[in-house]
Amino acid sequence: MEKRLLWRVAEKRWETPEAVTLRLAPTDGQEVPYQPGQYLPLVRTFHLQEERRAYSFSSCPHTDALPSITVKRLANGLFSTWLVRQVHEGDLLESAEPAGRFLLPDRKPERLLYVAAGSGMTPIFSHLKAIFQKKDWLDVPVRLLYANRDSQHTLFKKQIDHWIAAWPGRFQVTYFFSRERGVANAEYAHLSSALFERHLLAFVGDKAKASARRGLVTYLCAPTPLMRMVRMSMRALGFLDENIRQETFTPDPRLQRRQANPSRRHRVVVRFAHGQRVEFETFEGETILQAALRQGIALPYTCKSGVCLSCLARCVQGEVEVQFVEQTKREGPGAWVNTCISYAVSEAVELAL
Ligand SMILES: Cc1cc2nc3c(=O)[nH]c(=O)nc-3n(C[C@H](O)[C@H](O)[C@H](O)COP(=O)(O)OP(=O)(O)OC[C@H]3O[C@@H](n4cnc5c(N)ncnc54)[C@H](O)[C@@H]3O)c2cc1C
Ligand code: FES
Repeated sequence: MEKRLLWRVAEKRWETPEAVTLRLAPTDGQEVPYQPGQYLPLVRTFHLQEERRAYSFSSCPHTDALPSITVKRLANGLFSTWLVRQVHEGDLLESAEPAGRFLLPDRKPERLLYVAAGSGMTPIFSHLKAIFQKKDWLDVPVRLLYANRDSQHTLFKKQIDHWIAAWPGRFQVTYFFSRERGVANAEYAHLSSALFERHLLAFVGDKAKASARRGLVTYLCAPTPLMRMVRMSMRALGFLDENIRQETFTPDPRLQRRQANPSRRHRVVVRFAHGQRVEFETFEGETILQAALRQGIALPYTCKSGVCLSCLARCVQGEVEVQFVEQTKREGPGAWVNTCISYAVSEAVELAL
């Protein structure tokens, strides 16, 4: 079943007027493994209701002694306001295990392009820390397009500027500021599709051959409309979709939930990696995760809305429908499915975690 971790806040550091970095020490002193680009699923009960939120690591296991997360406060945001305003050094935080698949490529890429906005820089900052200490990646050019209001609200700007100076010709950054002019390496503009295409082609070469396009790996972590614009522009210019990876922070409010119908039921078996097996019933119109939680079965999850991937399970037997915002996919054995947006279709379904 799900493992819980307990952390003590070893340091709280203000990064911008609305964002803090919390350095976290495991209370049992045991090192917690994680990878650059992953996140920590924090868990806390607010007003008798358990809430979970994902916070990407801003640290990198190879360069930081302790893991850290960086949290930007959202106006009226329940969890982020608590973390930024009320949590102090010495306080305890609870989490599930690190999760997420926004990982560096297994194989050395030819070029790396990052597009970030606001707190979307956090997992990318962790990537950059890892990239700059990889001895066999020294010839990989890295390009960052980073959108913010102004320099004061730009996370990690001091360290990024330091890297620009430390890696001339290899690490190029353009900040896009909507409310500040005259900053080095910055354009006073919103990152539009025309601007994006200009910077992209300048990076890969205007007449980039298909092989140059294939060699580019792109990572996006920004508001959904900006990421959609980048994907569409890249697709139109012949870049491969499979080389574009994105981390989505914000659940899509358009996600439809079905109406549960207890008169029609399915059986679900879930096998955990360490050998445990649970079996439970789902109602028609109830997600597999909803059914498990209703019956007190602790399947892993964080966002409950199909964006964080902490609930991913492999379908071993039977059929499920995965209901994304823009499409519904029917999946069978071998497919990876998010239990938080998946509905059992066949009478019996078996999943493996
Ligand atoms: C994989 C992943 C990694 C993440 N990493 C980070 C991180 O490193 N740093 C960080 O600060 N946040 C990160 N987030 C976002 C974080 O998990 C919370 O969603 C965010 O802090 C808001 O939670 P809240 O409880 O404060 O707001 P809520 O009380 O849940 O929401 C308040 C209002 O804000 C809207 N909202 C919710 N989330 C967002 C958002 N991200 N942007 C804009 N509006 C939103 C809601 O629709 C609601 O109207 C990540 C999310 C995911 C899925
Ligand atoms: S819980 Fe986040 S994708 Fe399912």
